[in-house]
Amino acid sequence: MTTINQKMAAVVLISGSGSNLQAIIDATQRGDLNIEIKAVISNRPGVKGLQRAADAGIQTEILDHKKFTNRPEFDQALQQCIDHYQPRLLILAGFMRILTTEFVRHYQGRLLNIHPSLLPKHTGLNTHQRAIEAQDSEHGASIHFVTEELDGGPVILQGRVQVKIAETPEQLAERVLQVEHQIYPQAIQWFAEGRVQLEGDHILFDHKRLQEPLSLTMKEHQKQ
Ligand code: GRF
Repeated sequence: MTTINQKMAAVVLISGSGSNLQAIIDATQRGDLNIEIKAVISNRPGVKGLQRAADAGIQTEILDHKKFTNRPEFDQALQQCIDHYQPRLLILAGFMRILTTEFVRHYQGRLLNIHPSLLPKHTGLNTHQRAIEAQDSEHGASIHFVTEELDGGPVILQGRVQVKIAETPEQLAERVLQVEHQIYPQAIQWFAEGRVQLEGDHILFDHKRLQEPLSLTMKEHQKQ
């Protein structure tokens, strides 16, 4: 039985800068996010995200995928490392690894990812470049449950921005990243509150089936 004020145990997986991790840490420190990050695990040594975690007093682990001979071996070791912390929620925050079916099934319903596009558009890499090339008027980021299909799990929440004329992929990426930092803590909080659940291949939000992803049109910080 969980009490109202009990924090949900979470583990965060990263591969790089960890700016989404930072947004999640900041939200927990502000009291906007009712989770306790038990550990941050990176598959790459020396990345900035590990420093961010250490600065916040969070336990860090490095599991270098290059030291494993194949994907299943790495995923098994990763699962063991994660489960040591007994998380109720596993958060992928810029974790740049394809996961095995066994791993995904083990965390089914409690595994969230952020993807920098308005899914189902632009799965995979180079999403900003591809949104510009496709002349999309809108672009953004999606928070979704991870299922066996890459970038294909049901989407909880999307944040949208208008694509500007003559914008470079780097400029667009920067604006989408700001959006990511707003929507990920929000979606995680909904999960922690029990408002968002995965049921089969669809999402329940407040116990009702979500017909389409929730959507936030973002407040952008105007640069003078
Ligand atoms: C983000 O754009 C995220 O959507 C993608 O990888 C990037 C990670 O950025 N999956 P950061 O490490 O959180 O700064």
